[in-house]
Amino acid sequence: MTTAATKATLLKQLEGLHHIPTIPAVLAPLLRYLERPLEHLDVQKVTEIIAQDKSLAAQCLQMANSPLFGRWQKVDSLHGAIVGLGFQRVSDIAMSCGVLNLMPRASEIDAVAFWEHALGCALVCRHLARNISYPDPGKAYLAGLLHDLGIVVNLWILPKEFAAAFELARSEGIPLHEAEQSILGFTHCESGRLLADRWELAPDLKEVVATHHTPQEARDHAGLVALVELSDLLCRLSGLNYGYVENRQVNLLEQTGFAVLSQQCRGLKDFDWARLTFELDSYLDEVHSLVRAIYRT
Ligand SMILES: [Fe+2]
Ligand SMILES: [Fe+2]
Repeated sequence: MTTAATKATLLKQLEGLHHIPTIPAVLAPLLRYLERPLEHLDVQKVTEIIAQDKSLAAQCLQMANSPLFGRWQKVDSLHGAIVGLGFQRVSDIAMSCGVLNLMPRASEIDAVAFWEHALGCALVCRHLARNISYPDPGKAYLAGLLHDLGIVVNLWILPKEFAAAFELARSEGIPLHEAEQSILGFTHCESGRLLADRWELAPDLKEVVATHHTPQEARDHAGLVALVELSDLLCRLSGLNYGYVENRQVNLLEQTGFAVLSQQCRGLKDFDWARLTFELDSYLDEVHSLVRAIYRT
């Protein structure tokens, strides 16, 4: 199939909405509820929403017990998790578990490695956001988690062609989006943009999904896109890259995202990158075992 024909197939399938993953049922009401001011939130109500999906509830509990979410004491009920961790973290956790279930189970690539990248990127985004005084670390987490949504679309719609692109990227040690461009004629940014529209994601998340590999094209939310670009790069160069490591040297300080973000966040110029890279290594084992455990739930 030519790349033009492949792209046409993608667009047709997306328009026909066949095989397109839908946003997990529990997440839409949960995220809507969590938009309310903190003083109007009720622990019982949040527990009830999550409990509607038994497997999501079990996954949330597992994640709530991970040190990655700051929990060092065992939590054994959903209610306890919400009280102990707070609404924001529970919303992060519920969203993470919800999107984890989107990947086709019999997939051409290692689903576990893919979600390790997504979860790793979400954690790095939040960590970086907090340390440079970016105004919304919760949004940064969500943006990191969802940035590669287009890969899920490619896997559902063009599994064989995507597998060929993935194999090219892995064998050559090149970025996945470059391999997609040469084999499919488009990248997961384009397919992700279509799914983000379909899901009616917030405009800032849509822009992240669509432009995280071309941050110079970001318009209204360039700061968030920049944060994700840098965090994504860090993950890809440190063993959280869908099961292979890119074969190249990158200077983070020369990236488009760095220039954009340093204008918005004064804390960035003093940020300790060496320390983050060191901390990232300590995340690796935890992210690996957490994703593996949740994926088997
Ligand atoms: Fe990407
Ligand atoms: Fe990525």
